[in-house]
Amino acid sequence: MLDHNKFINERISKSISYNAFRTLQHNKNLIDFCSNDYLGFAKEAVIHHINNNTPKLLNYGATGSRLISGNYELTEETEVFLANFYNTSIALIFNSGYNANIGLFQCLPQRNDTIIYDEFIHASIRDGIRLSNATHFSFTHNNLTVLEQKLSNAKGLIYVVVESVYSMDGDHASLTEIVAICKKYNAALIVDEAHAVGIFGNGKGLVSELGLENDIFARIVTFGKAFGVHGAAILGSNELRDYLINFSRAFIYTTALPLHNIITIKNAHEFLLQNLSRIDQLKELITNFKSQISNFKSQIIYSDSPIQCIVVPGNNEVKAMADKLQQNGFDVRPILSPTVPKGQERLRICLHSFNSKKEVDNLVNTLKI
Ligand SMILES: Cc1ncc(COP(=O)(O)O)c(C=O)c1O
Repeated sequence: MLDHNKFINERISKSISYNAFRTLQHNKNLIDFCSNDYLGFAKEAVIHHINNNTPKLLNYGATGSRLISGNYELTEETEVFLANFYNTSIALIFNSGYNANIGLFQCLPQRNDTIIYDEFIHASIRDGIRLSNATHFSFTHNNLTVLEQKLSNAKGLIYVVVESVYSMDGDHASLTEIVAICKKYNAALIVDEAHAVGIFGNGKGLVSELGLENDIFARIVTFGKAFGVHGAAILGSNELRDYLINFSRAFIYTTALPLHNIITIKNAHEFLLQNLSRIDQLKELITNFKSQISNFKSQIIYSDSPIQCIVVPGNNEVKAMADKLQQNGFDVRPILSPTVPKGQERLRICLHSFNSKKEVDNLVNTLKI
């Protein structure tokens, strides 16, 4: 056997021995308590279908990078629309949130700069940071004292990175306080709003809900979660847009999103403006779920977002619990270590505006057993 195959087999065996081996599954027609489609937009034909009101498309495929043949008026018009929606100077569309984060962190912080990030930051940001030559430190999750300690030792241009709603915990960063700390240390604050847009601030995110738009250096908004489509944008200044177009390799060296996708991004935002009641429906469900699980003996991770986590320590234990829920018709997925720290393995329950109160009540009753 080639050494290369031996290496692959050994890594797979190790992962199986930790009960952390991942496999792809089809959706099993269970009640959705795991997708990021918080508002049910992925099911809305009116967002996804091109119809008579859609502008005539020059091409169906993008045909190239934005810097060669893949840039269209419609793409730039959508970016202006997004900048207005999110109350910022510019938006630059990327192919996904993963690409946006890689593309931003790879090119912006330089060798003598410092990046300080929350320890629970998303993998796409970590990967982007790895591609930069900057010095980088994590700070204990949501611990502002440790953040200040790290800031007081930082050199060069300083970037602080947080998520407004954390993807694996559902809790949020104390953005107002973090803004004040960043100002004190002359640090640029970058906020990933992947799980906050569509839900907080009338869909415009937590930064907008708190009125902090002018205090954030850059925001990453993604469209594959509450908006039910695909893609992402970096929000910021005109200079940042020019910089990214020139230096962001994940922007430059890839085929742009096709126009159909660009249209769905705008459709999803317009649909949200016409259906803000979905957010109220979802928030009511979140309040109801939280009040029902508040007396559970297990550790509950505090969250006001659709992501609600119940800690079930141990990969075997949390997998068994998720299996039981699935056998009872609920699509709840376990989050295993090493995705989360050992001992913090959890059921990550995502609530949606389309889940009925009865479905939620039944889920809670099954969790109790
Ligand atoms: C916080 C955060 N940022 C970025 C991403 C990546 O976004 P996308 O799915 O659009 O690549 C995710 C998705 O898992 C996320 O949770």
